[in-house]
Amino acid sequence: MNKPVHSLMRIQLRSIFLSLGEDSSSRENRMNLILEDFYERMSRDTMIGFFFANLDLKHIAHQQSKFLLNAAGLIDQFEGKGPASAHLALAPILEGHFDRRLVILRETLQAQHVPAAMIELWISFESTFRNIVVSK
Ligand code: HEM
Repeated sequence: MNKPVHSLMRIQLRSIFLSLGEDSSSRENRMNLILEDFYERMSRDTMIGFFFANLDLKHIAHQQSKFLLNAAGLIDQFEGKGPASAHLALAPILEGHFDRRLVILRETLQAQHVPAAMIELWISFESTFRNIVVSK
């Protein structure tokens, strides 16, 4: 991702996430609930559920939440692993797995009544990680 696009994305993510709540703790709570739903849906999925077998879904959801809030500039600290190192111990993630994850993300955000403009932005943000998450 080049720098100007990165800065624009940060500003867009920021304004959208600010709409999730009045203060940082209510935003983080709302984000956690959305992402807990997302990871539960992924773990039940026939195509990508196996990646999550025997893992602590809530923990992963909360790490993802912190990762996103940090990318949006709304929290200073993210001490977890980034997308380039979080998946090293897993089976190879293929293009189809990545596509499937985006379909489930869209379904989750719609079920959670996230506004359509935010859904598109969220998906375009996640799409920028395709090349580092998908195994070559
Ligand atoms: C099909 C695509 C993906 C699959 C199957 C997948 C699967 C997983 C799994 C199983 C974990 C838990 C790893 C563990 O606890 O050992 C994880 C963690 C994580 N993933 Fe993904 N992931 C995918 C795409 C992405 C993308 C696109 C991002 C970023 C936008 C991302 C960011 C993260 C983060 C931040 C963590 C938590 C790291 C931590 O615990 O510190 N993942 N992922």
